Amino acid sequence: MESAVKACGIVKSYRMGSNSIDVLRGVDFEMRSGEWIALLGSSGSGKTTLLNIVAGLERPDAGTLHVDGVDTGRRSKPELNRFRRRHIGIVFQAYYLVPELDTTENVMLPALVDGKGRREARSRAEELLCMVGLKERMRHRPLDLSGGEQQRAAIARALVNSPSMLLADEPTGNLDSRTGEQVLQTISLMRKDGLAKTILMVTHNSDVAALADRTVHLKDGVVQESA
Ligand SMILES: Nc1ncnc2c1ncn2[C@@H]1O[C@H](COP(=O)(O)OP(=O)(O)OP(=O)(O)O)[C@@H](O)[C@H]1O
Ligand SMILES: [Mg+2]
Repeated sequence: MESAVKACGIVKSYRMGSNSIDVLRGVDFEMRSGEWIALLGSSGSGKTTLLNIVAGLERPDAGTLHVDGVDTGRRSKPELNRFRRRHIGIVFQAYYLVPELDTTENVMLPALVDGKGRREARSRAEELLCMVGLKERMRHRPLDLSGGEQQRAAIARALVNSPSMLLADEPTGNLDSRTGEQVLQTISLMRKDGLAKTILMVTHNSDVAALADRTVHLKDGVVQESA
């Protein structure tokens, strides 16, 4: 089956003064198209670092990375930005909605940045907001939404350009367990509807991991797989 992500020998260190922190020490990791993978590991093990590298937000010091068949190491920053906009949706623990814009405008934003017209962007945003259960919240500003609603708006925003992959970094980390459950159900639903086909989700929660097809552990700078 086609690979959505193929990472070979990914190395990443951070320098802090004269010290170097070797976070990723040769990560080999593959995701098939359509797979949902839960990425686990203790705090500081490099989960966010790996997710950011897959997203093209950070570059590895060594190793190769193919996303949707594209060798991202060979792309310039503007090319990577365009690639990310179209291929990858990202959801973080914090929602990062723009407070001055209403919910619909927030969801439209990546579509407008990608050059879509306002009418097309708005209708796509409204369609997605209905799907994530925010039909009655489209004109609200982010601060007038609950945390769970803000995260569902962030999921709609991540999917507005119909990416093939959703990357999520502890998407339920700021939510109580019931609200977190609703956010996960939303992600499952999006996947069933053919959006968010391939999912890489960082989590500390084994219940969340149980939803995934496969669990991957980061430990001592390398990936350790378990069924
Ligand atoms: N920009 C940076 N500069 C220096 N060190 C960094 C930077 N980003 C991450 N680190 C360090 O790299 C290590 C891995 O960080 P990372 O955020 O990837 O961990 P994580 O597994 O996501 O942890 P958590 O579960 O707490 O979110 C940590 O020791 C962190 O302090
Ligand atoms: Mg992290």
